[in-house]
Amino acid sequence: MLATSPVATGEAHITKGTPMKATKWWQNTAVYQIYPKSFNDTTGSGTGDLRGITAKLDYLKDLGAGALWLTPVYPSPMVDNGYDISDYTGINPQFGTLADMEELIAEAKRRDIRIVMDLVYNHSSDQHPWFIESKSSRNNAKSDWYIWRDAKPDGSAPTNWRGIFGGSAWTYCAEREQYYLHTFAEAQPDLNWENPEVRAALFAAANFWLDKGVGGFRIDAITYIKKPAVFEDGTPDAADGMVSVHTMTANTPGILDFLHEFRREVFDGHDIFTVGEANGVSVAELPDWVGENGVFSMLFEFAHVLVPYEEGECWSKMIPWKLTKLKGALSASQAGVAKEGWYPIYFENHDRARSVNYFFPNGGDTRLAAKALATVLMTLRGTPFIYEGEELGMTNVRWDTIESYDDISSHGQYELALKEGFSPAEALSFVHFNSRDNARTPMQWNTSEHAGFTTGTPWLPANENYHTINAAAEEKDEDSVLSYYKQIIRLRKTNPVLLSGVYEELLADNEQIYAFSRTAGNRRIVTAVNFSAEEAALPAGFLKGVRLIGSYADAPSTVLRPLEAVVYEEEVK
Ligand code: GLC
Repeated sequence: MLATSPVATGEAHITKGTPMKATKWWQNTAVYQIYPKSFNDTTGSGTGDLRGITAKLDYLKDLGAGALWLTPVYPSPMVDNGYDISDYTGINPQFGTLADMEELIAEAKRRDIRIVMDLVYNHSSDQHPWFIESKSSRNNAKSDWYIWRDAKPDGSAPTNWRGIFGGSAWTYCAEREQYYLHTFAEAQPDLNWENPEVRAALFAAANFWLDKGVGGFRIDAITYIKKPAVFEDGTPDAADGMVSVHTMTANTPGILDFLHEFRREVFDGHDIFTVGEANGVSVAELPDWVGENGVFSMLFEFAHVLVPYEEGECWSKMIPWKLTKLKGALSASQAGVAKEGWYPIYFENHDRARSVNYFFPNGGDTRLAAKALATVLMTLRGTPFIYEGEELGMTNVRWDTIESYDDISSHGQYELALKEGFSPAEALSFVHFNSRDNARTPMQWNTSEHAGFTTGTPWLPANENYHTINAAAEEKDEDSVLSYYKQIIRLRKTNPVLLSGVYEELLADNEQIYAFSRTAGNRRIVTAVNFSAEEAALPAGFLKGVRLIGSYADAPSTVLRPLEAVVYEEEVK
């Protein structure tokens, strides 16, 4: 296939009087998410490190990234790969030193790239000195820093809540003769935000990183920090007799008071962005959370990534794929922040399977699928977030046994599926489709052993397709997914209609095509993407004006070819 048509720079399309409401640096950039453990290993340890990120800054600059969100790099027993933190102001020796971090921040800044840290404040590690003290007795100075409750009269857990990774959300502690709550793994005890000392300690840690010059924060699992006043059993939602802790505690009234204090004590007065991970916040609630009167710059909500599921995310409870459900979710989010606030657009992160498999369950050419999603990612209204390897079109892995999987939630979901009556083969197929390890295999740099990620033994095996899908090969191929990403990021950054233009969904009932327009002043951009592996008919005269970019070499006729994506710009009266 030949190269895609040249990209218009957008300069020619600036119209006098175009509303430019989006004026912050982070609104007109692309954020790139790094999973440091899997990105680039400079020591041969088999685990990526901070110097490995610094070594790849030119690659990231060339791609067009203006900010790098690092998943946690703090000291951690790594039960949940860093989301179990044992020191909020240190660096995990596996990843390097504080000096390496300072160098990364400085080297990134020289290239006009900011470093964004992940704040995991719903819980710490059970190895954090705070928890070690808290669990030692009922009357120590930190006894109230976590969520402790007595057993039920029969000695069982205080409630029937299931943790998000499976199993009870409570673990018994013999020293205190009490249970502690953990929304996630047993090794991740929930912090007690009701205690002002806890909040002050967490805010101080975030300010420590601001003083180091970070450009923002991604705030983990933030919807769980407020617990209900009364802890009660819920109606069981699965065969294990338990109910998800999410149902019982997500987004509990009063949470915004904590968050406004967080904003005042940490975020206000800094030229940074904040993005909260907010499973459980509905689109209708967005104005309370983002924008001038809200708390964060942006919020990751989950509706569009949960499209394959009935409700929540029980991996065995899948429903038939429907493009209209995905489109509806994306359009609702666009509407939710149309007047106030801003949206982080994403299809992948370290918790999701690879998007070329997840959003195209019926198959098709994964290169075209990657370009199709890139087109949506870069032309919706909001800040695009790219996850490492997404810009190469990296795909899922498919390992033969559950033991091959490292991800703690894959094991929990596998066990739950067995309890629900599925066979081991069926349970494994859910893991294949949704395991977080799909996104955590080593970054594919080149064709040398282990994809050029390490000279040692990688902590997770590289996807075998690195021989064809890798950065070195794609840099040389002007029709590659990587080349397409570079072109469309440039288009996104230089065309003002894509920055601030008003979003409108088109062909809303179409089960093959996702189409929408962005309009500002007298310019209108139309994106049309065929999500199916068959041809899809377009209404007559649908695409008008100049083709800015497309995933096939030439322009479409009256049909979009399998997985074809195009972007057109026209003048409107
Ligand atoms: C968030 C993180 C995920 C982690 C969990 C617990 O969902 O993205 O990776 O396992 O919180 O911290």
